[in-house]
Amino acid sequence: MADQRTIVVTGCSSGIGACCARALEADGWRVFATVRKTEDLESLKADGIEAVLMDYTRPETITALVDTVAERTGGRIDALFNNGAYGQPGAVEDLTTQALRDQFETNVFGWHELTRQVIPYMRQRSQGRIVQCSSILGLVPYRYRGAYTASKFALEGLSVTLRMELQGSGLHVSLIEPGPITSRFTANALTKIREHIDLENSPHAVEYRRQLARLEGSGPVNRHKLGPEAVYAVLTHALNSKNPKPHYPVTTPAKQGIWLKRLLPADLFYRLMRWTD
Ligand SMILES: NC(=O)c1ccc[n+]([C@@H]2O[C@H](COP(=O)([O-])OP(=O)(O)OC[C@H]3O[C@@H](n4cnc5c(N)ncnc54)[C@H](OP(=O)(O)O)[C@@H]3O)[C@@H](O)[C@H]2O)c1
Repeated sequence: MADQRTIVVTGCSSGIGACCARALEADGWRVFATVRKTEDLESLKADGIEAVLMDYTRPETITALVDTVAERTGGRIDALFNNGAYGQPGAVEDLTTQALRDQFETNVFGWHELTRQVIPYMRQRSQGRIVQCSSILGLVPYRYRGAYTASKFALEGLSVTLRMELQGSGLHVSLIEPGPITSRFTANALTKIREHIDLENSPHAVEYRRQLARLEGSGPVNRHKLGPEAVYAVLTHALNSKNPKPHYPVTTPAKQGIWLKRLLPADLFYRLMRWTD
């Protein structure tokens, strides 16, 4: 259909991306959903979604994705939902520089590259929506999540700057700031902490044991956790509203974190955050 809007959604093998790609398709969008592994293509295709391979750490796959979408749609790209990412847990002093580089390669540089490649198509039509799935950790810090927090703070900085630079162009940039959402995020983060952090030979070994017990499910359940459809609810606003907001917090902890940061003196706020997990 010539009037069907086109969106690229990344990281659709699970969680927020998988949910939003399907919901967008059901709402009438032409969805190009990306995954990293060939075995993840089929279930999306079965649901009528155009699934394409893309890995943010491999620039040639970003270019191939944009070329494929532009070729199939005649250059029409209405929206981009940058979503695919991971969290590298670990205390800042235990992080290798390489692990930090890898975190930025996926969560920041890859997103920047894809966004840059999509913008010219949006500019041609003087319209477009760029929605970044950031995190509450893009606005407030969190112990033992320094790499991820830093990557999302960087994303926030780039995205709000881009939003200002695109003002008046017909292109809009929004950030979604989820708190805890049901997905494979925690399981993937557990793999990363074991891969890159020397858990037993760290000054933080006791804290790691406590946190791992919680993340592996033997600790208390987070009653504020929402399903990925909570993210879709604000994504639709960012895509459809005449005045998309710069920031869309999702979940109670995310909203509380933003307010507390605004209200409290910095030192008190960081002391308080010391006790959250
Ligand atoms: N879940 C939460 O509590 C939460 C809270 C705040 C923000 N977020 C944000 O929400 C977004 C989606 O996460 P999720 O919760 O849905 O987690 P998820 O279930 O782990 O999904 C992450 C997706 O990102 C993909 N991905 C990872 N590395 C990639 C790379 N180098 N290139 C392209 N895709 C890559 C994964 O693909 P593979 O399957 O191939 O690994 C997967 O499809 C992320 O940006 C995350 O930071 C999540």
